[in-house]
Amino acid sequence: MQKTIITGLFILLTASVSSQAFAQQEAIEKRQKAMKSNSADVKAIKAAVESKDYATIETKAKDIMGTADKIPSLFPKGSTTGKTKAKPVIWEKSDEFAKNAKNLSKAAGELASAAKSKDDTAVAAKFKAVGEVCSSCHKEFRADKYSE
Ligand code: HEC
Repeated sequence: MQKTIITGLFILLTASVSSQAFAQQEAIEKRQKAMKSNSADVKAIKAAVESKDYATIETKAKDIMGTADKIPSLFPKGSTTGKTKAKPVIWEKSDEFAKNAKNLSKAAGELASAAKSKDDTAVAAKFKAVGEVCSSCHKEFRADKYSE
């Protein structure tokens, strides 16, 4: 009788642990996908800057803005189990992490405005600023290697 209860408890526990791990893995994949889209947007902007394709710069910059606004929610607390480069400091300094996401949204918004007014000097400066926000957040909050 006792053994059955223990076995039952054990099964429940493992099931809940693995569903938690699954949810974490899902969260990790979702945010990495969002980051990959940031990177694709940056690449598209780089090409568009060279060809003075202002419409594309504006669209892709707005895309980055949309992603940036979602960043804090893409990092649910404790989503550290799995193949991730997220550093625990994200959750220790969550205000600062969110501020970095806000900075990205702001920089991308300014890039979109610069593209809209076809101002090459401003486009170059704002594009550089976007890249700097990516790097500074990665420097503090992203590990060099995946956790597994
Ligand atoms: C608010 C902080 C923050 C900002 C801003 C940010 N990133 Fe990230 N980025 C991260 C973190 C943290 C990870 C690691 C996520 C993980 O592995 O779970 C990451 C991961 C990535 C990855 C790797 C994804 C993978 O599949 O492992 C790429 C590419 C990337 N970011 C590109 C960018 C680009 C480009 C920008 C700017 C347009 C940007 N990021 C802005 C925090 C940020």
